[in-house]
Amino acid sequence: STGLNVKIVGTSLVCVSETESTNILAGRLAEEGAAEGTVVIADSQNRGKGRLGRLWESPAGVNLYCSVILRPPIMPIHAPQLTFLSAVAVAEAIERAAGLIPVIKWPNDVLVNGFKVAGLLNEMSAEMERVDYLVLGIGVNINMQRSQFPGDLRHPASSLAIEAGHGVERLSFTRALLEALDSHYDSYCAEGYAPLRQAWLDRSAVMGRRVRVNCQERQVSGTVEGIDEIGALLVRTPDGKQERVLAGDVTIDE
Ligand code: BTN
Repeated sequence: STGLNVKIVGTSLVCVSETESTNILAGRLAEEGAAEGTVVIADSQNRGKGRLGRLWESPAGVNLYCSVILRPPIMPIHAPQLTFLSAVAVAEAIERAAGLIPVIKWPNDVLVNGFKVAGLLNEMSAEMERVDYLVLGIGVNINMQRSQFPGDLRHPASSLAIEAGHGVERLSFTRALLEALDSHYDSYCAEGYAPLRQAWLDRSAVMGRRVRVNCQERQVSGTVEGIDEIGALLVRTPDGKQERVLAGDVTIDE
């Protein structure tokens, strides 16, 4: 037993000191049949994966790098709903273990005082019309110091310790995170997407705000009205039309 108060997420833990990327290791274990709820944690990654092919800075001894294997009985088109699972759980763990007030920026950036403190990268393997497994990759800057951040970041980034003004215990943060992931996943399996969507909206930094979204070749500007059934952002443009945005980078206008 892992000593965690969980039903699925964290019932099996694989901890390594260094790996290329916990998402890659978790994908390999899932291919070999690892059980749903298996969590891979590394002290450092030498090629941590960020979104859009970027690298995720992963120094040893300070942060959390983990990947969760899930096997939800859903169709691939519903997989984006689970993007919100990690964002909501990370936000709850930050509140509980670090006493900070996080907000979520669509789709899945978690910010404290306007700075990005966590990165989330979900990967999916699907066969036919069924999800075989999902890997939820979660990186949280816990005790990283300013000098450890690269100079050329796209989004202003920070760590929990910098924002709290004191160190945050990695073990209690990890415990809070896995318990939050477990309880929201349990409710997702039992009650569906609605409670998770509401939890996400309650913490959203974009609800009701004016935003600009860069998505591939187009830019959409307008006021955010919510997220839909599959996780797309709903934006009301100045000409009164509602646009659905499935993926992109959001800038919040003042
Ligand atoms: C982003 O670009 O915001 C997403 C970053 C995701 C980083 C985490 S760290 C643990 C897991 N393993 C990886 O290689 N990436 C994710």
